[in-house]
Amino acid sequence: MDELKPIQNTGLRGVSIASTKISDVDGAKGKLIYRGYLAKDLAGQVSFEEAVYLLLYEKLPDADELGELKKQLISQRALPSELIAALATRPKDALPMDILQAAVAMAAHHDPNAKIHSREAASRIAINLIAKFPTIVAAWDRIRNNKEPLEPNPDLDHAANFLYMLNGVIPDDEIAGFFDTCLLLHAEHSFNASTFAAREVASTKAHTYASVAAGVGSLSGALHGGANTRVMEMLLKIGSVDKVEDYVKNILATGGVIMGLGHAVYQTDDPRAHILAPMSKTLGERAGDTKWYDLSVHLEEVAKQAFKEKKEREIYVNVDFYSATVYYYMGIPTDLFTPIFAIARIAGWAAHVIEEQFAGAAPKPALYRPESDYVGDYCGPDECVYVPMDER
Ligand SMILES: CC(C)(COP(=O)(O)OP(=O)(O)OC[C@H]1O[C@@H](n2cnc3c(N)ncnc32)[C@H](O)[C@@H]1OP(=O)(O)O)[C@@H](O)C(=O)NCCC(=O)NCCS
Repeated sequence: MDELKPIQNTGLRGVSIASTKISDVDGAKGKLIYRGYLAKDLAGQVSFEEAVYLLLYEKLPDADELGELKKQLISQRALPSELIAALATRPKDALPMDILQAAVAMAAHHDPNAKIHSREAASRIAINLIAKFPTIVAAWDRIRNNKEPLEPNPDLDHAANFLYMLNGVIPDDEIAGFFDTCLLLHAEHSFNASTFAAREVASTKAHTYASVAAGVGSLSGALHGGANTRVMEMLLKIGSVDKVEDYVKNILATGGVIMGLGHAVYQTDDPRAHILAPMSKTLGERAGDTKWYDLSVHLEEVAKQAFKEKKEREIYVNVDFYSATVYYYMGIPTDLFTPIFAIARIAGWAAHVIEEQFAGAAPKPALYRPESDYVGDYCGPDECVYVPMDER
């Protein structure tokens, strides 16, 4: 009977709970693989749309396939007018990730076929959501700033169109290219918290909107996608390079967390940070002020050293550390950094929902259902005796 006893592993660290063909994170070697390709080799070479094709359809597209995918995405970008009207009723200070999560649920209300359970239907919803995420985020930013949402521009690719819908200005090729690479680098990352959340909901045979909405909720947390916003807030709080030492000393002395450092899987630098750091430098130089990049570099050095001295172990930067200044230099409001993460990660979530429901690489559970250790110690070893209200 011993083998039926649940094994406790807090946080599921180091436990493989399913097989996947979508991606792999090799934490020891610092490798991120999308369907067989190193993400760092794809960065700057293939567009976000090509990465979407790769994640959803298991191969890089040829020119016709890419053209068809782009056509489908462009055709699905616009939001139903009722959805825009509903967003306009929300309090202007609502958190953008909460708005996005609500909008995903509302998008299901506008899809009469949301409940159809087939691989084809899930792929159709995937394209619908990948296309609409940028429109929702940009529309919300404009609505909360008392501006009219802009119609998507069908002449622009996914990345450039988002920046256009946000600012009303078509970005130049360098900015659009950098943003496109950011989307590619954030598109997928195996069984992280939000992907697991999306897959867990998908495993119940809930529809793709419900599964993705769970992913958005999970990504919003400070220890997950919410970290990129917190990194920028931290840099703004530190303010200047000469304040870095004191800041790090104080955080480590009080048991606090330095945002953008550490990872549950990587035991070396996050490979995405190596692409984002030079991007941040270039954008700083373009802006004529590398202050935030310089501050980040110094903070990384000081924090790594202090961590080694205090905890006798290494710590490394994660994807959020340099993406924060990349977005900041692009003039994007800090509280949109995490929604931008979601604009990219919807590609991975969608691929995982499809794999979970229709293309599982065995072994795969029918339904996720972990155990827990009950430690409720209310009435000693026995169950409590019910006491009616008037005798309590
Ligand atoms: C991501 C994170 C939650 C992983 O946590 P984890 O799995 O517990 O990481 P580790 O097992 O490597 O941590 C071991 C120790 O380092 C500490 N640590 C980890 N990241 C730290 C950080 N950024 N700042 C300070 N201390 C940190 C932990 O508190 C723990 O300390 P302890 O041994 O004294 O209890 C954690 O690194 C973190 O909170 N990072 C900051 C938030 C962030 O950037 N999140 C985005 C992740 S992509």
